[in-house]
Amino acid sequence: MASSHPVLLRTVARAAARLSPPPQIIQAARQLSTGASTLSSHATASNTPPPPPPESPKGKKPLTPSQKAFLSSALRVNQAGELAATLIYTAQTPPVVRREPHLKPLMKHMYDQEADHLRVFNHLIAKHRVRPTALYPLWSVMATGLGWSTAIMGKEAAMACTEAVETEIGGHYNAQIRKLLEMVTEWEAEGYEVGEEFRDLINTLRRIRDEELEHLDHAVEHDAQKAEPHWLLTGVIRAGCRGAIWVSERV
Ligand SMILES: [Fe+2]
Ligand SMILES: [Fe+2]
Repeated sequence: MASSHPVLLRTVARAAARLSPPPQIIQAARQLSTGASTLSSHATASNTPPPPPPESPKGKKPLTPSQKAFLSSALRVNQAGELAATLIYTAQTPPVVRREPHLKPLMKHMYDQEADHLRVFNHLIAKHRVRPTALYPLWSVMATGLGWSTAIMGKEAAMACTEAVETEIGGHYNAQIRKLLEMVTEWEAEGYEVGEEFRDLINTLRRIRDEELEHLDHAVEHDAQKAEPHWLLTGVIRAGCRGAIWVSERV
């Protein structure tokens, strides 16, 4: 009887070790920004040996409510904007290409990039369970109308539309990137780890920003500034973009 105790103890110890969640399961439970809170809740709930130490002294810092709200509204407005961009090019392409067949590859190139941007934000919005803008149908109608009407006015007006939209969108993405970099700087200064997913998001926004600015350059190279009256057309479209961004961030 006395000799069975060590065997029993070893069996119990092995079973207890199996019950301890492996690090990859803890990692899978992590969302965009969290980590530290998930790890600590597992550690306190379990009587088994503590999980391995995090890679940085403090692990990852959970997002504050205002940071969560910022990220949700950023993904929401970006998705709406990219949907609008694909619809603008879809509406512009037939009238523009009918008059200027040599622009077909350029219009397709810009459309393909916008479709990729939309796929990126559709994926992110679903993954992080962010509510899409409630005004999706309204933006769809307005974007199609804007694309079609500028294309009917001529190639120059169509390009002026791209120039105006991309000027606003480039600035919009830059502001988001700046805000995310501020969060990174703050976390690093406090000794927290910045997750790979968060860094990937910043790099994705940079790539998309660069492609939007490339569209702006194409538009200017293709006579956007010869549209008549350029100042009025771009002024109205830029104001419309700012209004749509402001509303989509909130609704
Ligand atoms: Fe885009
Ligand atoms: Fe664009």
